[in-house]
This record gives sequence, structure tokens and C-alpha cells, in this order.
Amino acid sequence: MSRLIHFLILFLAFIWSASAQVSAINNPAGSVANGATITITWSYTPQPNPLPGTLSVIDNTTKNTVIISSTINLSSQSYSWTVNVPAGTYYLALNDGSGDKYSRTFTVIQ
Ligand SMILES: *[C@@H]1O[C@H](CO)[C@@H](O)[C@H](O)[C@H]1NC(C)=O
Ligand SMILES: *[C@@H]1O[C@H](CO)[C@@H](O)[C@H](O)[C@H]1NC(C)=O
Repeated sequence: MSRLIHFLILFLAFIWSASAQVSAINNPAGSVANGATITITWSYTPQPNPLPGTLSVIDNTTKNTVIISSTINLSSQSYSWTVNVPAGTYYLALNDGSGDKYSRTFTVIQ
């Protein structure tokens, strides 16, 4: 019986650690210029041993994905990104280990 309880506790701890930490990611308002540095923010539920997050920018038309950083400190809830993609419409994705959370679309101009 105690073995079963032990297993259940481990199982619940596993589910908890894999649960969503990031609940929203905010995109820049309107359009941003290529080369500009913008601040990306998100809301975050604190976790005991957080893994680094992966932030990507995705072309809304081609779905081509470029990783901005795979060592995002999720608890800092913000990241400065120097825009380095061609003009177009994009959205951001932040993966906290439980899947991607997406921003709304924004426009990059040259
Ligand atoms: C982004 O892509 C979706 C699906 O292709 C499209 O419906 C939407 O209008 C696009 N958004 C912008 C702002 O271009
Ligand atoms: C992540 O950011 C939080 C809040 O700004 C900070 O307290 C913490 O030390 C940072 N962790 C790392 C590994 O840099």
C-alpha cells in the first residue's frame, strides 16, 4: 500500500512539473522595425525547479520558425529581442516544456 502511495506521489509530482507555467505571451503592439530591440513579456506561474524556456518567432505566412533563444529564464517574465527577421507578419511562441504558447501576430518592417 505504501508503495502505491509512493508511486502516486511521484506520478503527481511528474504531472505538476510538466504542467503549464506560461499562460500568456505578449507581442509587440503594431509594427516593429527590423533591427529594433523590443521587450517581450509573458505571465508565469512560479515553479520549484523551472526549466529554461524556448522562444521562437514564426512567419505567419510560411510558418518558417526561427529560435530566438532556448535558454529563456521564464521567471524573469521578459526578454529583450533585437528583431532580426525580414519584413513580414509574425507571431511568437514560448515553450515552457509543456508546449508552445503563442502571441498574436505583429508586423516587421524594414
Ligand atoms: C496569419 O495567418 C492566418 C492563417 O494563414 C490568417 O488567417 C491570418 O489572417 C494571418 N494574419 C495576418 C495578420 O496576416
Ligand atoms: C531568473 O529571473 C529571476 C527573476 O528576475 C531571478 O530571480 C533569477 O535569479 C533568474 N534565474 C537565473 C538562472 O538567471
